[in-house]
Amino acid sequence: MIHAIIASLHPRQALHRVLRMASTSSRAHGTLADKVALVTASTEGIGFAIARRLGQDGAHVVLSSRKQANVDRAVAELQKENLSVSGLVCHVGKAEDRQRLIDAALERHGGIDILVSNAAVNPFFGSTLDATEDVWDKILDINVKATALLVKLVVPHMEKRGGGSIVIVSSIAAYSPFPGLGPYNVSKTALLGLTRTLAPELAPSNIRINSLAPGLIRTKFSSALWQDKSNENKMLETMRIQRIGVPSDCSGMVSFLCSADANYITGETMVVGGGAPSRL
Ligand SMILES: NC(=O)c1ccc[n+]([C@@H]2O[C@H](COP(=O)([O-])OP(=O)(O)OC[C@H]3O[C@@H](n4cnc5c(N)ncnc54)[C@H](OP(=O)(O)O)[C@@H]3O)[C@@H](O)[C@H]2O)c1
Repeated sequence: MIHAIIASLHPRQALHRVLRMASTSSRAHGTLADKVALVTASTEGIGFAIARRLGQDGAHVVLSSRKQANVDRAVAELQKENLSVSGLVCHVGKAEDRQRLIDAALERHGGIDILVSNAAVNPFFGSTLDATEDVWDKILDINVKATALLVKLVVPHMEKRGGGSIVIVSSIAAYSPFPGLGPYNVSKTALLGLTRTLAPELAPSNIRINSLAPGLIRTKFSSALWQDKSNENKMLETMRIQRIGVPSDCSGMVSFLCSADANYITGETMVVGGGAPSRL
């Protein structure tokens, strides 16, 4: 029957139909088949690579960031790859935006299985004690508080599904502070504490929570650390794998943590850092 339909189509239509069927069936068989995933700060860099990978592994992905134009571009790029992706504006520091993200997922897909909390800011470079109260407030609000409040919003919906998986994007700086980024380093260490604290609280609801600690990954966010060649060389000296990472180096680990293969892993932090020193 399917072969007969395809045979009746114009060759180009037939090719599109076959590609769509192939993508649908691989989606149905992926490790995250039909899971609904929210990824914050996902219109570029690490978040975008994570959104793409979760989509490739079968999830329906709702991506987001602060700017509509970025959301539109990212959604268009991933939809062109035949992935089940939609998006909306969500500034994670705004309570109404966080709620809208949840509502959109429920409206579009009827539930939530996965949250990847990836947003972070760093408006400061210098000696830690020179950071103003405003700097501390901004960094802790966006990087830590917004993450905890987003987790609070998704948990009741994960409970309705019988469980879920949460991944918080921290940083290798949580273990091994980057010079000049004191408040940011502290916020990333706090996320490891949040992960550890929530793991036992969420386990009875069959919700796992883990962190990802990327090393130096080549993105706009980290450009101050590698744009200058001498800085880049200094960073490379600390790495066993002699290159700066790319966003896709991080995405497989996140997909794994969200999948049933990681069913016995919670409260952990996975370092993806090219062998740069992190912990014992
Ligand atoms: N790159 C690294 O070396 C590295 C290392 C360790 C950890 N990390 C962590 O990885 C995460 C992603 O960083 P990245 O390097 O991939 O950054 P990036 O490439 O610069 O991308 C940042 C993304 O965040 C969005 N964004 C910024 N502020 C936001 C907010 N308040 N609410 C929602 N979205 C926001 C941006 O889009 P809009 O402008 O449209 O909002 C963009 O999509 C961060 O948590 C960072 O701390 C990065």
